[in-house]
Amino acid sequence: MAKGKLAYSCTACGNESNSWLGRCPICDSWGSLVEIELNGHPGLNEANLISPYKFSEIMDSNKDLDRIFFGMPETERVFGGGMVKGSTTLLVGEPGIGKSTLLLHLADGLIGQNDEKIYYIAGEESPVQIGIRGKRIGIKGKHLEILPETNVDLIIAELNKNQQSMVIIDSIQTLFDSNLDSVAGTIGQIRACASKLISWSKVSTVPLLMSGHLTKEGSVAGPKVLEHSVDVVLQLDGDSSGAFRTLHGLKNRFGSTNEMAVFEMRENGLIEVLDPSSGLIAERPKGVPGSVVVPIIEGTRPLLVEVQSLVSQTGNSFEPRRTATGIELNRLVLISAVLSKRSLVDLKGKDIIVNVVGGIRVSETAADLGIALAIASSALDKEFPSNMAAVGELGLTGEIRRSTYIERRIIELARLGFEKVLVPASFVQGEPLTEVNIKLVGVNNIQDAIKKI
Ligand code: TYD
Ligand code: MG
Repeated sequence: MAKGKLAYSCTACGNESNSWLGRCPICDSWGSLVEIELNGHPGLNEANLISPYKFSEIMDSNKDLDRIFFGMPETERVFGGGMVKGSTTLLVGEPGIGKSTLLLHLADGLIGQNDEKIYYIAGEESPVQIGIRGKRIGIKGKHLEILPETNVDLIIAELNKNQQSMVIIDSIQTLFDSNLDSVAGTIGQIRACASKLISWSKVSTVPLLMSGHLTKEGSVAGPKVLEHSVDVVLQLDGDSSGAFRTLHGLKNRFGSTNEMAVFEMRENGLIEVLDPSSGLIAERPKGVPGSVVVPIIEGTRPLLVEVQSLVSQTGNSFEPRRTATGIELNRLVLISAVLSKRSLVDLKGKDIIVNVVGGIRVSETAADLGIALAIASSALDKEFPSNMAAVGELGLTGEIRRSTYIERRIIELARLGFEKVLVPASFVQGEPLTEVNIKLVGVNNIQDAIKKI
């Protein structure tokens, strides 16, 4: 194989340079530049062959996309309504989160509908290990073939021998291109291998599903550098010691990135949770202080999550601590500060811990009121009524502001049997919500909300 032009890329920030430098001029990391191979540019003759499309012809082409299905409705929704033929998808997540398990489920789901082959390129585990996992989660695997190989050119040569209905790469970090001197897993290798596989997938129109590890420390340059070259990026998230996992779209050329699927990791694999709200609040304790249910919106769907808080006396001569799991630490600091200043809840000299149950991440400000009330409930040692929920954004003066999609959140609460919900007072003054059997309690500010319960 002829070598392409060489360039250098920083493993820390992805910056490219055409000469090797000891220190990256963008992020100042030392010794982080490694060589990568660039593809050649088309010559003038090739450029003459290109021609544009008429916009009127392409407008509705998204509807005609040929998609494949897995018999997993939640996952298909995250893909934008099935996986598009000839598309490339990157599935990222921390090691041990369940990527390989999900890939096997997807392979199995597809098999029922196709007579063709599915190739699973195994760079991380041996066929025996994959077999054990497959048996454990009940994979039939009639059309699934495992290829334990990491040399990208050998893999493509093998793929060219047959027509597959899907190719799975687990993981992209384990593959290597023998034209490069660097070891597998470096940026240059990841890019070169992915680029060859993506080109192969585009030409053969076989959908490609690759997994990539993300590390906790955020040294994500590895698989993240591929984000712009693939069509779809999905992230599997969660607390690997807990049961729930979420699958989010980070990028999707064929659908919305706001959709989310919730899974439960069981003895027999990752099982889609079809009614995540009821699953996520099923085990919540009732009649104890510090727990509040908050309706959040994930994509197009409302989801009920339980926010828990524990407020305790800080030990002598220690600084009070704020610990947040599932929400931004900055948000917790802000909410605690507003609570201290604008209400009668005394948080001086107190440690505050907030946790969103089930490993769900909440980034919406609509959860502010619920988080504030969970903290207040624990600090005052008074339970928050278990038939009640709260929604609203907290302003710096303690005022409760309106959030988006309040109706949808309220309907979901009513569906799961909640009887009352605290909402911003301005919402209650608006058009009344008919047909929903839940009492709306309007609140103006945080002290008002605390008084009302
Ligand atoms: P895995 O899919 O190997 O994660 P990744 O490919 O992202 O590294 O999943 C690893 C974890 O999932 C492992 O700790 C065991 C657990 N697990 C189950 O709880 N149930 C199961 O049926 C399977 C297959 C795995
Ligand atoms: Mg794995």
